[in-house]
Amino acid sequence: MKEALVLLVFLISPVRVRSTASSNLTVSLPGCPDKCGNISIPYPFGIGTDCAATSLNPFFALTCNDTFQPPRPMIIGNSSTPREVIDISLEHGEVRSYGPVSYSCFRANNTILENYTAEIILDGTPFIPSTTRNRLTAIGCSAMGVIGGSNPNPYVTGCFSYCQGINDTEDGAPCTGMGCCEAPISSNLTDFLVILSNLSSVWNFNPCFYAMVVEVGWYSFRKQDLVGHRFINERATRGAPIVSDWAIRNGSCPKEGTIEPKDYACVSTNSYCVSASNGPGYLCNCSEGYEGNPYLRGGCQGVCLSALVVVSLACFLVMKLQRIRHRKEKDEYFKQNGGLKLYDEMRSRQVDTILVLTEKDIKKATDNYSMDRVLGCGGRGMVYRGTLDNNEEVAIKKSKTIDDDCREEFVNEMIILSQINHRNIVRLLGCCLEVDVPMLVYEFIPNGTLYDSLHNNDQTLPIPLDLRLKIATQSAEALAYIHSSTSRTILHGDVKSLNILLDNECNAKVSDFGASALKPLDKNDFIMLIQGTLGYLDPETFVSHHLTDKSDVYSFGVVLLELITRKRAIYMDDFNEQKSLSHTFVLMFQQNKLWDMLDSEIIDDEDMVVLEKLAELVMHCLSPRGDDRPTMKEVAERLLMLKRLQMQLATKTKPIRVRYSHGGPSGPVDSDEIRYHGMETTKLVFDVDS
Ligand SMILES: *[C@@H]1O[C@H](CO)[C@@H](O)[C@H](O)[C@H]1NC(C)=O
Ligand SMILES: *[C@@H]1O[C@H](CO)[C@@H](O)[C@H](O)[C@H]1NC(C)=O
Ligand SMILES: *[C@@H]1O[C@H](CO)[C@@H](O)[C@H](O)[C@H]1NC(C)=O
Ligand SMILES: *[C@@H]1O[C@H](CO)[C@@H](O)[C@H](O)[C@H]1NC(C)=O
Ligand SMILES: *[C@@H]1O[C@H](CO)[C@@H](O)[C@H](O)[C@H]1NC(C)=O
Ligand SMILES: *[C@@H]1O[C@H](CO)[C@@H](O)[C@H](O)[C@H]1NC(C)=O
Ligand SMILES: *[C@@H]1O[C@H](CO)[C@@H](O)[C@H](O)[C@H]1NC(C)=O
Ligand SMILES: *[C@@H]1O[C@H](CO)[C@@H](O)[C@H](O)[C@H]1NC(C)=O
Ligand SMILES: *[C@@H]1O[C@H](CO)[C@@H](O)[C@H](O)[C@H]1NC(C)=O
Ligand SMILES: *[C@@H]1O[C@H](CO)[C@@H](O)[C@H](O)[C@H]1NC(C)=O
Ligand SMILES: *[C@@H]1O[C@H](CO)[C@@H](O)[C@H](O)[C@H]1NC(C)=O
Ligand SMILES: *[C@@H]1O[C@H](CO)[C@@H](O)[C@H](O)[C@H]1NC(C)=O
Repeated sequence: MKEALVLLVFLISPVRVRSTASSNLTVSLPGCPDKCGNISIPYPFGIGTDCAATSLNPFFALTCNDTFQPPRPMIIGNSSTPREVIDISLEHGEVRSYGPVSYSCFRANNTILENYTAEIILDGTPFIPSTTRNRLTAIGCSAMGVIGGSNPNPYVTGCFSYCQGINDTEDGAPCTGMGCCEAPISSNLTDFLVILSNLSSVWNFNPCFYAMVVEVGWYSFRKQDLVGHRFINERATRGAPIVSDWAIRNGSCPKEGTIEPKDYACVSTNSYCVSASNGPGYLCNCSEGYEGNPYLRGGCQGVCLSALVVVSLACFLVMKLQRIRHRKEKDEYFKQNGGLKLYDEMRSRQVDTILVLTEKDIKKATDNYSMDRVLGCGGRGMVYRGTLDNNEEVAIKKSKTIDDDCREEFVNEMIILSQINHRNIVRLLGCCLEVDVPMLVYEFIPNGTLYDSLHNNDQTLPIPLDLRLKIATQSAEALAYIHSSTSRTILHGDVKSLNILLDNECNAKVSDFGASALKPLDKNDFIMLIQGTLGYLDPETFVSHHLTDKSDVYSFGVVLLELITRKRAIYMDDFNEQKSLSHTFVLMFQQNKLWDMLDSEIIDDEDMVVLEKLAELVMHCLSPRGDDRPTMKEVAERLLMLKRLQMQLATKTKPIRVRYSHGGPSGPVDSDEIRYHGMETTKLVFDVDS
């Protein structure tokens, strides 16, 4: 909020806005140059008589001497007028220009070698030296600078500077009488002389004295200025800057209610008149909220003209405020999503395995949820492939919004999942709770889903029976583990081939469980299940709305069916009719037409027994009553037995073939396989003997 406040102040401060908006305001008459060199020449000043307000004062007309680079604007006058203009300010009614410097230089016998007396005649010009911005300054040892005039009244003032040696004072010392001195000047000075009185130089080291009316702050004492003629030659080559107040001298501000005089200079709307502070006359100024040149028609322009600036500032402010609000919302979501509970829990259980990522991290990892990175989308949300800062590949699931009741369960689930470490379960690495939808970060499994391998990818790619058995066994082990091995039973609730991933060695990784597992199945979830997993749904659950471990067993039975038939859970038969795989299989099995259903690729005389037993297991899993189904543990055990049986049969008939090389191109993968590899020869001998 503090930022917003600062910005608000920034926004309503007119000074700030004005200076931002002053980039392109007209300063001169149309068609007239607004600059000489890099110096802006605003009306009533102008280059040449046609461009200046000469009717107000002929001295407003300047010349631009372009023998210099950059060209220099000059006041048209004689040597008594400060000539070279340094800058002109309308706002403050000031002109800076270079003025003359008086000097006297002496010979060794104290006779005057050369002298110059500045006579400044400003009568008739709009200029009067500013009393506050200028000083009479004299430089020298025993130099007396005097300024004197008679207009409007006789006036003399001056200062005396004394020193005995060049080392009496230091560079940068203030001009208080040692080496240099200064005196304020009077107001209303139009004609005056700057005189060095004819004292002779008493010190050979200091042959020249100087005196000038000069801008306050310009001169700083330097010992070298006492030597030779260095001051004029090195520091005041163009003269000494003098600040003059200028005004429209002929006339005055019209009294309230009177008609403006004919030559009234403040012609712009939204301008007003200001009486000159030094000498007669007046100045013009733009009204509050306007800026520009009040001496030109339409010269004062509303700051709103620069609406773009205001609008962009406003937008900036709004964006900033929104961002602040957004951050507050994120904190709110974090609390709602149980982030605090998660933190507490993690601290108390010393769980340090789970990463808590910010929304920013997630956006970075997924290239701002780039479509290129979508791995899949389903009933529960989108899954993106992400890359963390340490180059680790992850899968990021953006879940659907979870209602309040379930948030706590969601967090519990995450805590449990973060502690599960089973080689056939996709590992939960982290989460992000900052946003309205919680996001989960999983390890990235490169080879896609079992569903894709069976049904989508190149259908002709053979998947041998032993590999199918391996996948089935590993999946069953994973489910058995979550059903029984953890401190708290976790039900998957959505077992299907789409939720079994394969790593690059074709090991099964069960994924996407937990999100609904511990939740009571309310209506919403129920609809979600039907949407997501038609074909896998336990008919008992369908009726009772009650999810049990046996529901997972049923669904797993369907996965097994997919593995042995290579058909989808809901598939098109030869007559292009949608069929439920489980339903059809049960019918066919009862009609002794098992072999019509099986994937012809794996039908092999030697594997008949295995396939028959597999089919029996499937039938068992698909029992209509949950109680009649085996537990996941039993399923896993039976699959493991079948796997061994299949391997024995294979090695008996084809002793040379090393079957388990399918496990992975890069070597042995799971411990079972390692064991079988090592015992292959022994086993063979034993089998033959028996
Ligand atoms: C000011 O406006 C004129 C046209 O009115 C344009 O040519 C010029 O580039 C502008 N200057 C700046 C600094 O925007
Ligand atoms: C004009 O240019 C000179 C050097 O080229 C620079 O010293 C001076 O400050 C500039 N004046 C303005 C008003 O920009
Ligand atoms: C410009 O300045 C130079 C050098 O001071 C001078 O000789 C010349 O006459 C000036 N030209 C104009 C047009 O003022
Ligand atoms: C030039 O100087 C004389 C005095 O020497 C003065 O009377 C006259 O007004 C000055 N001219 C201008 C244009 O300043
Ligand atoms: C014109 O107005 C500005 C801003 O209000 C002020 O700073 C400036 O001194 C005024 N100028 C004169 C000559 O009064
Ligand atoms: C002072 O010296 C100059 C030459 O250095 C000489 O011309 C002049 O006459 C001398 N004056 C006096 C009064 O000695
Ligand atoms: C300046 O020197 C000139 C001669 O060069 C002389 O006529 C004049 O009186 C001197 N002025 C002063 C103030 O010393
Ligand atoms: C002034 O001081 C400098 C060193 O700081 C020295 O070199 C120089 O001779 C001194 N000059 C005089 C006149 O004392
Ligand atoms: C210096 O001033 C005195 C009067 O104080 C005067 O008599 C003398 O002529 C002046 N010297 C010069 C060179 O002007
Ligand atoms: C000053 O104003 C008066 C009347 O207001 C006018 O007669 C006179 O000519 C003006 N002087 C100048 C230099 O504009
Ligand atoms: C300056 O001049 C104006 C008008 O000529 C007069 O009203 C004012 O009193 C003078 N100021 C001083 C300090 O002399
Ligand atoms: C698994 O991925 C590896 C590369 O990561 C690839 O060579 C292999 O063909 C993939 N296997 C399957 C079954 O998709």
